[in-house]
Amino acid sequence: MTNNFFITSPIYYVNDVPHIGHAYTSIACDTIARFHRLKNHQVFFLTGTDEHGQKVEKSATNQQKNPQQFCDEVSQKFRDLANLLNLSNDDFIRTTEARHQKTVAKIWEILEKNGYIYKDIYEGWYAVRDEAFYNADEIVDGKAPTGAEVSWHREESYFFRLSAFQDKLLALYEAVPDFIRPVSRYNEVVNFVKSGLKDLSISRTSFTWGIKVPNDEKHVVYVWLDALFNYISALDFANNSSENPAQLFQNFWNNASNSPLHIVGKDIVRFHAVYWPAFLMASNINVPFGVFAHGWWTNEGQKISKSVGNVIDPIKEIEWLKSFNLSHETAIDYFRYFLMREVPFGNDGDYSRTHLIARLNSELVNNIGNLTQRCLTMIYKNCEGKIPDGEEHSQTHIEPFIENYFLAIDNLAIDKAIQSIIEFSDFVNKKFNDLAPWNLKKQGKIAEMNICLHETAESIRLIAILLLPFVPHCANKILDLLNIYNNHRNFNFITKKIIAGQNILEPVAIFPRLNS
Ligand code: MSP
Repeated sequence: MTNNFFITSPIYYVNDVPHIGHAYTSIACDTIARFHRLKNHQVFFLTGTDEHGQKVEKSATNQQKNPQQFCDEVSQKFRDLANLLNLSNDDFIRTTEARHQKTVAKIWEILEKNGYIYKDIYEGWYAVRDEAFYNADEIVDGKAPTGAEVSWHREESYFFRLSAFQDKLLALYEAVPDFIRPVSRYNEVVNFVKSGLKDLSISRTSFTWGIKVPNDEKHVVYVWLDALFNYISALDFANNSSENPAQLFQNFWNNASNSPLHIVGKDIVRFHAVYWPAFLMASNINVPFGVFAHGWWTNEGQKISKSVGNVIDPIKEIEWLKSFNLSHETAIDYFRYFLMREVPFGNDGDYSRTHLIARLNSELVNNIGNLTQRCLTMIYKNCEGKIPDGEEHSQTHIEPFIENYFLAIDNLAIDKAIQSIIEFSDFVNKKFNDLAPWNLKKQGKIAEMNICLHETAESIRLIAILLLPFVPHCANKILDLLNIYNNHRNFNFITKKIIAGQNILEPVAIFPRLNS
């Protein structure tokens, strides 16, 4: 039995530099990827860039660059962001790479052979910003339902027989209720499909920046058909055949014990939950995955838009955090923590520096940081820097919190998983304050003091392990201070209790305060 798990972010358009929306999706994927690795699963976390299509071509032309050179430059910025955010992605795919182009050409041929492609005339609305076609009845005040500008197109086009998949898709949604999460998105998609599916235009002739349709070079493949297949081109699908199965594709798509998971924003659910499974079914490829759609961030209550000029740049936010005298790594952890904690995963959220400061100070600084600092300093000063005796009397009462934590992550309720850590830390803090080991020391009750410090150190150890997916740098630093399991930290260590006599390192502040 494998324990393989494939997780993907959307691949990002390179028409512009990365912003908070990209950082958010990527951090969420990274958090989930880390969680699975801590469970000893074999994880493949994929991210990358979506480089073809009219939108990207237009941006390149506006900057008087050739599209490939333009894509190389912007794609690099997304790679840099992945490094900056401490993402643990296993691969970074670009749709301009040969392995991807080969996959798309191979798929086109399969679709054609299977009878799902025909040529006709496309006449209708197209929004370049969304790279999407719209029916006349979807147009609101002359714009796409998303607010994007639309223009009328009439051009020769290849079509995909999407209409043939209506019943199969509905059967899939019924059989796999988790296929689309959260449930509000599931309902949205089911209603959309029930309202009837029209065949989909899958090639364009009015521009050239894309993958050429095999044997008809006048056409380029529709950018969403192109883009969606990145998920399996990264698994070496181009080299997969029944005689010579590609290992990655077999391990992470066909035979993974955990369903592959596509994390996407709510704006692109339809592409992932309708078109993508239909394309796969039409190509005789399994549909083992699930889709989770997260919400959108606003900036201080306002919709983020380039024209308003309120786009949030993650690099700037990390620089701003560093201005509080945080190390680079701690600043990244704080940023990641806020994004994962502030908003229930799946809901929209509002980004505000004031809220970030309040959230970080109250939870990481005052709650966990303070507890760690006070307990470890007492041990360092009063117990010769060694974990004191007390194991047989100490009880952390962690069980219900751990149960909530794992349940929450299984449901992708990332914020709730963090909440269960904070609730546990609250509980430990309260007990620590009630027992007041500094008073026990004054009263000469050394055995009691030792039990309290032992138990609290054990709780801090558990808190640090549970924090690993969210604030990897800081959580590791706590475990470093406790001087335990310096290699391959994972959830197996949850049951490996702290041992009396173990040396700890001289405590340093793990979570510096954000003084505004
Ligand atoms: N290229 C397509 C995805 C193809 S996947 C096969 C695309 N790219 S994108 O760059 O426009 O968007 C990438 C992701 O960023 C989407 O999931 C989108 O929801 C997310 N966000 C864009 N703005 C956002 C916010 N303001 N807040 C949160 N996420 C947002 O779509």
